[in-house]
Amino acid sequence: MRQAADRFGTPLYAYSAPVLDAAIVRVRAAFSDARIWYAMKANPNLTLLRRMHSAGVGFECVSLGELGRAVKVGAGGQEILVNGLAKTDDEYRLGGELGATFIVDRPEEVGLLPPASRVLVRVNPGLSVSTHDHLATGAADSKFGVRPDQLPETVSALRSGGHILRGLHLHIGSAIRDTGDFGAAFGRVAALSALTGELEVLDVGGGWGLDADLHGIAAEAKKAAASFGAALWAEPGRYLVAHSGVLLTRVMGHKATGREFTLTDAGMTELLRPMLYGAVHPVRALWNSRAGEDETSLSDLAGPACESGDLLGRDVTLPSGAVRGDLLALLDAGAYGAAMSSSYLTRPRPAEVLWDGSDWVVMRRQETVQDIWAAEE
Ligand code: LLP
Repeated sequence: MRQAADRFGTPLYAYSAPVLDAAIVRVRAAFSDARIWYAMKANPNLTLLRRMHSAGVGFECVSLGELGRAVKVGAGGQEILVNGLAKTDDEYRLGGELGATFIVDRPEEVGLLPPASRVLVRVNPGLSVSTHDHLATGAADSKFGVRPDQLPETVSALRSGGHILRGLHLHIGSAIRDTGDFGAAFGRVAALSALTGELEVLDVGGGWGLDADLHGIAAEAKKAAASFGAALWAEPGRYLVAHSGVLLTRVMGHKATGREFTLTDAGMTELLRPMLYGAVHPVRALWNSRAGEDETSLSDLAGPACESGDLLGRDVTLPSGAVRGDLLALLDAGAYGAAMSSSYLTRPRPAEVLWDGSDWVVMRRQETVQDIWAAEE
């Protein structure tokens, strides 16, 4: 990682292909013959998408841009899910042309679908889950999914409208800590089989926390799918890519106000998750203590932005004696890190590089300030 930082500069997103491949293998081991769809919002980089596509993974897309990425890496309609709760006319049109499967999120959508669409209906199971409020999607008052009481009218409208109802879909949230939440939600949806009868597919979404018991979640999912006589589909985002990526940042200095700060050259513009969700990314210092073998100190990691919330970590333990230029890695940053980075403050987005097992490959060059203002000239 030090080599990558020296070669490409910081801030830098560095990924490992072997770690990504191992995550795909873990998911397949738990979910057996389930079909895996990568929620590409977690990290839509074309290099990662190509790797997943060649491993037989399909794509869940939520925008015209994401659909474009799927097509660009060679995915056909059979390998694409079109999701989103406010799809545009262009998204319906392209999804229809591709013959992709649409995830219907409200009854009214039935009238907007292209003719003879293949469809999953997303159900809102009405369940609070163990995650940050912003990431809970299965609660009764969230904006997602069809209410169970609306399911009969949605199913009959689809059928009489000449569409192909393939099955049901749910996604209860993201970074869910308690594996029991999945079983509870899957059970609620399984009970709807009394209304729908047999279906081709049950898509249980994603949302698995990084230390989730995948085998436990998969067992519950298989049970729910069986109650529809359905094939099981899953849509992980974070689980596939988070571990494979780190954000490398260099120490810029120190300061003490009411608290101790270690200043870094990355911040909210590179990794928004700590600020937006209070997410904790483990920090690894890539230097040895200079003050004495085991000496450590506690500080907050402060990014360069002119916002008090621009902290990458709080009360982070680091080896003492860091000097300007020392390197830090924020772990588990492969999901929703680069994907949510911005050019706020006219800060070019960082480069992304991939360790392919023998060398570093650039998957995205560093943005330039000219890139940022190009559309304004
Ligand atoms: N399926 C659907 C319908 C989704 O909306 C999502 C994520 C996924 C699958 C994948 O969920 P995952 O396995 O990655 O948890 N920006 C937030 C995460 C937002 C997730 C949105 N939907 C973060 O940084 O934590």
